[in-house]
Amino acid sequence: MQVLSVASEIYPLIKTGGLADVAGALPDALAGHDIAVRTLVPGYPSVLSRLGKAKLLRRYDALFGAPASVLAAKLDDLDLLVLDAPDFFAREGGPYGDAGGGEWSDNWKRFAALSRVAADIAAEGVKGWRPDLVHAHDWQAAMTATYMRFGPAHAVPKVVTIHNLAFQGRFGADIFPHLGLPPEAWGVDGVEYYGGTGYLKAGLVSADAITTVSPTYADEIRSPVHGMGLDGLINGRADRLHGILNGVDTAIWNPAADPLIAKPFTMRALGGRNANRRALESHFGLDHDGAPIFIIVSRLTWQKGMDMVMGAIDHLVGLGGKLAVLGSGDHPLEGAFLAAADRHRGRVGAQIGYDEPLSHLMQAGGDAILIPSRFEPCGLTQLYGLRYGCVPVVARVGGLADTVIDANEAAVSAGVATGIVFPPSDPLALHGAIERAIRLHAHKPDWQAMQRAGMRADFSWIRSAARYADLFRALVQGAA
Ligand code: ADP
Ligand code: GLC
Repeated sequence: MQVLSVASEIYPLIKTGGLADVAGALPDALAGHDIAVRTLVPGYPSVLSRLGKAKLLRRYDALFGAPASVLAAKLDDLDLLVLDAPDFFAREGGPYGDAGGGEWSDNWKRFAALSRVAADIAAEGVKGWRPDLVHAHDWQAAMTATYMRFGPAHAVPKVVTIHNLAFQGRFGADIFPHLGLPPEAWGVDGVEYYGGTGYLKAGLVSADAITTVSPTYADEIRSPVHGMGLDGLINGRADRLHGILNGVDTAIWNPAADPLIAKPFTMRALGGRNANRRALESHFGLDHDGAPIFIIVSRLTWQKGMDMVMGAIDHLVGLGGKLAVLGSGDHPLEGAFLAAADRHRGRVGAQIGYDEPLSHLMQAGGDAILIPSRFEPCGLTQLYGLRYGCVPVVARVGGLADTVIDANEAAVSAGVATGIVFPPSDPLALHGAIERAIRLHAHKPDWQAMQRAGMRADFSWIRSAARYADLFRALVQGAA
């Protein structure tokens, strides 16, 4: 089967979060199921500069008014189609906004263009290649399903995956006439959303199947609390909704052979973690002592509960813990973490920014990874923590609830505990979880049993890729 995946990020070319990891890993995972994936991505500078030899497949004189072309290139295992449209994508800054954090004002056009091109490829093919199914990720690609539905490729199965319902791609109603869709595409069964235009909404009503990235999140988004205005629509399409857990790319996240850490280690020789621990302490200016190190590798936002962490730092330090933070996001939170590091020299360290190698070292050297998210569609950092013996301390929500087994008495005595799970959105519960982690850490045999149980757990793509493969096959055969 031939699949066209459409994504606004893909590891290792461009990444702001877990979407890139998933878009980068799923093609290889599906290859074992006889599914060949080509991924259409925007031609950001970081993408074009890594392409090497690319083949021109298709040219547009005026794609939303701008010249554009579709290039084909291979990068390691990735089979890429790149939308080279300099007016839209050749910019300094991030994929969605400038370096200061402001969103590009023409995002509606940039990602409509990406989706339009995907639909054209589904309809007409490129150089003899045509997909049997199209898989669009998040709002940036969701309109692919809409363009397909209202165009010649309407019969080609289309799947839209929700990675995060908090980002919906909402714009004014005034852009509708410029989208190149027929008038009937407006309306409650189309792109109209609370009087404006909703890209994710438009994709969800047009898709043949909707997936999201964990079973619990699939349930949660059917309720108003987590549905973010789309719960009604999602409930109406519940028979087409599938929660499929993300996996870990075990070639990239493998503590036994990770070139980005100070010393490789395995479950049997956890002592190998010590060199990583020391390197981590040195990097963040933390005291070299036996106190547990909590790490955070995260977008610094409300979703991730980072404001609650701010309120818990003094408590954590008071109990003897240490904290190392790597992240970027809301400016007040960035400043607050830096200030906390100043206040607690040797006990708290913070680095603002994005640093892929450091994120590996932190998982390898930290004792516990703190993830107090208010909502979390899947979450990947707890999975990396499990694999690296960095025990996850997580809120019981979304994919976090699906992947970590709380160290309650029953789980500890059965030897199956893999972390600490606490009620979400509750600062006191976070305090309690930190206390519990510090107490458990002091009892080495239990702590190591937890590390090993986590490292034994299989969160590779094997099971999840099989679920995507089953779904894709059922859709192509007209059975779903
Ligand atoms: P989300 O996609 O909501 O941000 P995930 O846990 O799914 O959360 O994925 C986050 C990904 O981004 C992980 O691969 C994580 O290691 C990485 N990451 C987040 N912040 C940073 C950072 N500041 N530096 C390096 N990697 C980061
Ligand atoms: C989103 C979610 C995160 C998920 C990631 C990849 O960014 O916030 O929970 O792991 O997408 O699916």
